[in-house]
Amino acid sequence: MQPFLDPSLSYEDNYANGPFGSFASALELPLPPGGGGCPEGAGEGGMRDEPRERFLGIPVHSTFGIPAGPLLNSRFVAAAFAHGFDLCVYKTVRSAARASHPWPNTLAVECDGDLAPDQTLIAHACEKNRVPRSITNSFGVPSQSPDVWQADMLAALRSAQHGQVLIGSFQGSGEGVAQIADYARAARLVAETGVPVLEANLSCPNEGKKGLLCFDTEKANAIVDAIRKEVADRPLLLKLAYFEDTSALQALVRALGGKVEGFCAINTLSARVVDANGQPALPGAGRDISGICGATIRWAGLLMTQKLAALRADNNMRFAIVSNGGVLTPADDKEYRDAGADAVMSATGAMWNTQLAQQIKKERCHDLK
Ligand SMILES: Cc1cc2nc3c(=O)[nH]c(=O)nc-3n(C[C@H](O)[C@H](O)[C@H](O)COP(=O)(O)O)c2cc1C
Repeated sequence: MQPFLDPSLSYEDNYANGPFGSFASALELPLPPGGGGCPEGAGEGGMRDEPRERFLGIPVHSTFGIPAGPLLNSRFVAAAFAHGFDLCVYKTVRSAARASHPWPNTLAVECDGDLAPDQTLIAHACEKNRVPRSITNSFGVPSQSPDVWQADMLAALRSAQHGQVLIGSFQGSGEGVAQIADYARAARLVAETGVPVLEANLSCPNEGKKGLLCFDTEKANAIVDAIRKEVADRPLLLKLAYFEDTSALQALVRALGGKVEGFCAINTLSARVVDANGQPALPGAGRDISGICGATIRWAGLLMTQKLAALRADNNMRFAIVSNGGVLTPADDKEYRDAGADAVMSATGAMWNTQLAQQIKKERCHDLK
């Protein structure tokens, strides 16, 4: 039950001492051979060694993993690969160092059903012996300086076995044309580490600016063009927020669906979070509204997957759909795949259940029989 990223510790302490729980012990053991995929012939033989699935054309043991966020550095990534999460996204980096928002960064939120628009949630510290259904996370997308994270991303890349893929997430800082140029700079720095897949975060909810980049098709298009000019030799994914407005999503997909290899969705949904006395639960300016993740946003992740799948078919496009949002069980994974996801990921669910990849692989194999 101990999460591998400890909410009772600051970002800096997690970065320096994590991961925790069974992820920590994984680092002391030799890595298992292969990613622990389906048994040969879906149950008739031993564990297969050769990857049988493909992600963006790359052979993988499974199309399941952990999205940008909880894997802070190479130790977290190595532990995740060792636990069979075959697609791992290294937490979003920037082209210059940036401090984290102060602790606390992760709180449990009280929300039994689906998160509604404009809902205010009561948040409190995560309890030791209780797995939260949903959480808020508010880090502000901190980053080490490139000389630190480039070396560490390379170490993370080396911990991937055959059949496992490391994805490098990044975002640009600043405003206007400077931000567009910074996306390209960050992309080049990530590509220099050798990661085979890039992911541009266009949906950062913690910047405290006017609107999310993914809702501005013109700017998103300029960012993609700038990135492509800088790095043209490997797949590029775009991390999107939930689009309430289907016509805005249609515009984005029509403009970019043929230029990038895939869309990752969704990032967190925003909500006001207060403590039991109705006061802001997170200290500091601009943190009264923060990102919600876990079971309460699953409805939005599923709806986005369906919308993207429909738009892909309507526009005769081939981009991959990498889905996440509230995946806590094998049944959630199946629901996403049935909705059209090519790959599925879990952040909140995986943090508290490090066996999730193994459980999902077992269930996927069972479905194949
Ligand atoms: C601790 C934590 C940190 C996160 N940091 C990032 C980040 O740096 N970049 C990003 O694109 N998304 C980030 N996210 C969002 C996740 O990638 C994901 O979109 C969101 O948590 C919803 O998935 P879930 O319900 O499985 O948690 C973070 C999530 C968590 C829980």
